[in-house]
Amino acid sequence: MSQHEPSVPTPARTSVVGAVVVLAAGQGTRMRSRTPKVLHELGGRTMLGHVLAAAEPLGAEQTAVVVGSGREQVAGHLAEVAPLALTVVQEEQLGSGHAAAVALDALPKVAGPVLIVNGDAPLLTSGTLVGLVDAHRSAGNVLTVLTAEVADPRGLGRILRDAAGAVRAIVEERDADEAQRAIAEVNAGVYVGDAAAVREALTRVGAGNQQGEQYLTDVLGLLVADGARVGGHRAADAADTLGCNDQRELAARRRTMNDRVLDGLMRAGVVVIDPLTTWVDVTAEVAAEAVLHPGTQLRGATTVAGGAVVGPDTTLVDTEVGEGASVVRAHCQLAVIGPEVSVGPFAYLRPGTRLARGAKVGTFVETKNATVGQGSKVPHLSYVGDATIGEHSNIGAASVFVNYDGVAKHHTTIGSHARTGADNMFVAPVSVGDGAYTAAGSVITDDVPPGAMGVARAHQRNVGGWVAKRRPGTPAAAAAEAAEARAGERAEDQLPDPAPGTSSEGPR
Ligand code: UD1
Ligand code: MG
Repeated sequence: MSQHEPSVPTPARTSVVGAVVVLAAGQGTRMRSRTPKVLHELGGRTMLGHVLAAAEPLGAEQTAVVVGSGREQVAGHLAEVAPLALTVVQEEQLGSGHAAAVALDALPKVAGPVLIVNGDAPLLTSGTLVGLVDAHRSAGNVLTVLTAEVADPRGLGRILRDAAGAVRAIVEERDADEAQRAIAEVNAGVYVGDAAAVREALTRVGAGNQQGEQYLTDVLGLLVADGARVGGHRAADAADTLGCNDQRELAARRRTMNDRVLDGLMRAGVVVIDPLTTWVDVTAEVAAEAVLHPGTQLRGATTVAGGAVVGPDTTLVDTEVGEGASVVRAHCQLAVIGPEVSVGPFAYLRPGTRLARGAKVGTFVETKNATVGQGSKVPHLSYVGDATIGEHSNIGAASVFVNYDGVAKHHTTIGSHARTGADNMFVAPVSVGDGAYTAAGSVITDDVPPGAMGVARAHQRNVGGWVAKRRPGTPAAAAAEAAEARAGERAEDQLPDPAPGTSSEGPR
């Protein structure tokens, strides 16, 4: 199962808000990065992707994302992950209030409740957003802000309540006095408000603050002054609300997200040996009774079936691992690893690798666009690219599937029950038939018919006495001389000849 929200089941609802507005135009100066802030990644999605995924169950008729800084990149990303979302350009980053106003101008027909959410809050869950909208509804509010009690409120807007506990205003830290800074309840940057009322109040927001920006947060105080019903809804889990403004916060949010994912997996029966060094994207799926060893990373659309053992020190990207397979110290991308397959230690499976049931890709083996049939083995030190290997075949150590002629890639086909020798080159396009053998050290350039032995290597020639003649006085010459002397002595002792049949009968 996917574990984006392990503890909060997503209620099935439609259209609880008229629109979702995501504020994502800010420069993100504090990230100190050329990548726009909301495109930074954690847990397998961008920050923006997480926010959109959390808002998805609200069933908004329209979703608008305000872009500005790095707009081409952000818009390009949106076209991929949320093609139906409306991209609204905020030409100048004049503040979160200005951004919200630009978005609502682009949604003139939207009435009723609108969710406005910062694009830099990747830990928000659907459950928290639905809880906010429900609280807003049942209180009959015009505006409800999501708040959280946090241990370290530094840098965040504080929630000002009156003696009766009613929310009165939000004050940014830069504009707060000492007493206000001591408040631990903060603005999460998520609001649900009546579209018309928010639209109107935004026209009255000024920029008379430390940053000279139009603050969305000022809408709350303005509506309170109007006598409108305004409320604050405390998030059950304050971690949900944490924003992400610099690399330290990004790393901390990534850790929290990973903790949540692993928590969900372990509750469901996945064995995680070392949660501190195991990283699983929200998009990956792991079945009960799979074992994840230290240093495992499961990224993207990776799936791991029950009884499979992954790691230590293994990265799987968009890779499928079948039941009972073992993947040790491997890096795999877009590979399909069948049930009971053995991969590694030290293997690199590149896109298009398909390993059928019980196959083996062993130590220091690289594969690409290669199918290895049921029970077939590539045990050691080999490159298998653009190849089809049948069933129950064995590829000798140090084999290279020579697939590239400098211009085009070519295919090699090895049949079933074939036995290829060590140190072979298969110069594609070429094939080795069912039940065929090849000799060690062969450069196979021609097809080997079924059942044949392909031999493609020079005959050995021994030049007797070469060392004594050409390297006299060396340790090699002395060793050779001593060996010859011992052989001479044995001959004198008339030792019997070695038993017949101990030499190899064919090429190895
Ligand atoms: C904001 C809130 C603060 C809250 C915190 C929660 C304001 C004024 N302050 O502070 O009360 O505690 O979030 O994380 O809103 N943006 C635009 N256009 C702009 C400026 C900002 O789209 O011109 C977007 C940003 O991309 C971001 C969001 O608005 O997603 C908030 O801006 P940011 O600069 O992160 O505000 P914070 O200082 O975090
Ligand atoms: Mg922020």
